[in-house]
Amino acid sequence: MSLRLEQSWTPGDGHGAFHLTLVNAGGEDLPAARLCYSSQTRLAEGARTDGGRLVRTFANHVEIDLAAPLPAGGTLQVVCDGLTHPPKNRTQGVMAAWLELPGGGVRVLEVGDLVPPEGTPRGPVTDWPEGRIDVPLGLMPWPARVEVDGFGSPPLLIPLHAAAAPGAAVAALHRRLFPAAPAPFALAGPGTEVVAEADPALSAEGYRLAFSPDRITLAHPDEAGLRHGLIALAQMTHAARTDDRFAFPQSGTIADAPRFGWRGCHFDVARNFHGAGTVLRLIDILAWLRMNRLHWHLTDDEGWRLPSRAFQGLADLAGTRARGTETPPQYADGPEGQSGSYTEAEVAQIRDHAAALGITVMPELDIPGHVTALLHAIPGLTDPDEPAGSYHSIQGYPNNALNPALPRTYEVVETLLREAAELFPGAPLHVGSDEVDHHSWQASPAALALAAREGLSGAAELQAHFLRKVQGMVRDLGRGMGAWDEAADGGGVDPDGTLLFAWRSKEKTAELIAAGYDVVATPGQAYYLDMATGAGWDAPGATWAGIVPPEAAYAYDPAEGLPDGPGRLVGVQACIWTEHLNSVARLNEMVFPRLALIAEAAWTPADARDWPRAAALSRLVPTL
Ligand code: ACM
Repeated sequence: MSLRLEQSWTPGDGHGAFHLTLVNAGGEDLPAARLCYSSQTRLAEGARTDGGRLVRTFANHVEIDLAAPLPAGGTLQVVCDGLTHPPKNRTQGVMAAWLELPGGGVRVLEVGDLVPPEGTPRGPVTDWPEGRIDVPLGLMPWPARVEVDGFGSPPLLIPLHAAAAPGAAVAALHRRLFPAAPAPFALAGPGTEVVAEADPALSAEGYRLAFSPDRITLAHPDEAGLRHGLIALAQMTHAARTDDRFAFPQSGTIADAPRFGWRGCHFDVARNFHGAGTVLRLIDILAWLRMNRLHWHLTDDEGWRLPSRAFQGLADLAGTRARGTETPPQYADGPEGQSGSYTEAEVAQIRDHAAALGITVMPELDIPGHVTALLHAIPGLTDPDEPAGSYHSIQGYPNNALNPALPRTYEVVETLLREAAELFPGAPLHVGSDEVDHHSWQASPAALALAAREGLSGAAELQAHFLRKVQGMVRDLGRGMGAWDEAADGGGVDPDGTLLFAWRSKEKTAELIAAGYDVVATPGQAYYLDMATGAGWDAPGATWAGIVPPEAAYAYDPAEGLPDGPGRLVGVQACIWTEHLNSVARLNEMVFPRLALIAEAAWTPADARDWPRAAALSRLVPTL
């Protein structure tokens, strides 16, 4: 690449300055152009630029008219002074950049890492020790009770009768995850028989394996328990056949049941789109880890990925970011932007694939905030008398919330929820509710009139008013409602049938339980997998919720210090936010091993957890 953008950061007033050096190492003389770039460390209100004139910002997207041409072999300096926060690592500067030439051409700039001030500590990127294997079983998550005697080489397992069809499904899962590895199961032939026995006395989703040299019994209370027992057998067989450190039990028992009923993983496909193939593979990995919920974050400011029949073309329009439009490229998008959404057939394939593995897919339509993409695709959802830019979200989006005073808002929301309910039969519907800015609707005459009529004060009470109406719609559809923890603000919603996802703090989780809500713990400081794994400058990722090395993710106990009720902690959930994660390679770098460690927090009793063992065994988990 003959054009580059090299960048460094110097601290100072207003969180310092970016120093951008444009280098033309090619043979083409370039005229004074418009520099376009994206950075999550945004320019603050009143930022100064040297070397060019700031002409537009939209969330992470910046446009600067350069003051001079960039001749072949030349360089050009641009300083952006005044940032929203200090960058913490090499990935928190410019993520993508290009030049728009006066004649209409575009030239992409290869972007270098953000360089810190001299002396800034660089590493380590990830502290993930080899760990220790005391009991040679390749199980992840670790079972509640392991009392086995003697270890040998694994037999070929022959699931019989009730176990035959689920055994074939687990064999197929194993083949998808490890296409080149020896198969753990066959349905006929010489091998050790696996006999399934129903035992209603076992805990929901649990199983008990009893080993002897010529037969294995698998007791289970339900279909999920049978599948979990078969997956445990497949994991032990796989590890023993592929890694000398592992073996297979000769006698004794493994008795197991999950710690929590909700063992979830959230996946944001709005910030960066990820296709159906990646979602299907993630579901396979979740099943292998005995997780049972996919929280599919399908919409956000940056994209609406769910198709609609009522609003034909919605996902095409609102799933696209493009140069020269009101929704420009963001994050690491090049000048071509990005476009992505799922067809109904893909949604059905993903939903059914998950269901066959015991995983419920909960769609999230993130409302009333985080809807920039929707607002540009469906007109009439904001107050025309509200001044543009009267508030900005924490991510810098102007006026990005549905207006709670407009009848049109409720018509559209009702339609979109009904369509989501049709695509996801039986699943709870998650209605977002996070990060609505405190200034939202405060300059909307319609919203202020509503507030006066209803005796509501501030954005939180207006949001609660909106959410209570949405809760009525979700109930009419016969569904439970999921929402982020802000749904309890401003008077909240009815806890009955509501599941809140507590991301802000342990204290918030405790508060919600005390207020009577059922809660899933998704703590940003431990379970957000886009957070950097190390404090050094070279560790990639976000840092706003904390630095989360694998050991810290594992050490977090979601239940510690919570009140007894009246609400309940029903589970835990990893969150894969994708502002930084626009490819499978980047997903793999950040998601593993932490996803497996959180799966163990969800499944394994607190007193059976062990960091050195988990560090070792999380290395066996397949990646995307
Ligand atoms: C969130 O992190 N905004 C739920």
